[in-house]
Amino acid sequence: MSKRRRIAVANWKMYGKLTSGLALARRICTLVEENSPLSYDVVLCPPATLTWSASEVIDGVYSLSIGGQDCHYESYGPYTGDISAAMLSDLGAKFVILGHSERRIAHGETNAFIARKIEAAQFAGLTAILCVGETAEDLNKDSALSVITTQLKESLPAKVRMSQLIIAYEPVWAIGTGIQPSPEDIAKMHKHIRSVLGESGETTRIIYGGSVTPANAPLILANDDIDGVLVGSASLEAESFWAIAEHCA
Ligand code: 13P
Repeated sequence: MSKRRRIAVANWKMYGKLTSGLALARRICTLVEENSPLSYDVVLCPPATLTWSASEVIDGVYSLSIGGQDCHYESYGPYTGDISAAMLSDLGAKFVILGHSERRIAHGETNAFIARKIEAAQFAGLTAILCVGETAEDLNKDSALSVITTQLKESLPAKVRMSQLIIAYEPVWAIGTGIQPSPEDIAKMHKHIRSVLGESGETTRIIYGGSVTPANAPLILANDDIDGVLVGSASLEAESFWAIAEHCA
């Protein structure tokens, strides 16, 4: 039994229109209600276009929340196309994924930039899910541990509120590839992340993401030190997401 309340996070990425996205949210809502009360949390992170309507669907369902996939570091301003943490919160979001490798790589997000976003998210009352992870190149150079240390030290703002923070370990090479670190290697990295976080490491939820499926979820979540999962493609279908989430119990 994990010491911390576990959490299963669905990252829908840029998938889901109004009809299909809300149908998925409704189906997950039903599964949560049928199994209520859950001993763990479930968070759906749809595209920003669905934040409000998905929040309405899940409204009042115990253990189920909505999250954003990114936010700006300012509350408002002349930033065409961006969304602030305050806006996400206004639409019912309680969480926001920050520093995902797809944003670090495709949008050139730096650790310093992500730190500002975490500060803004926490100020708006959201829990930030900070993604960290090494590339295949880092792994081959045997520098995964040091890369993660740097990402954590530089992405966490000086005034970070640890009670509003979750760390997601997502090796870049495991995202969408169907390959994964061994459960032992995941456990080793989680332990490392806890040690970098110092005293707060014992209470902070640290989750794993990267090619999580119903088949491998039991192996990953067999380890009490792993506080949950961040799921991409397998979260786009309610039954497969549920077959993963229920191993958080
Ligand atoms: P996949 O589960 O599709 O590998 O994606 C993981 C991920 O990026 C979640 O944030």
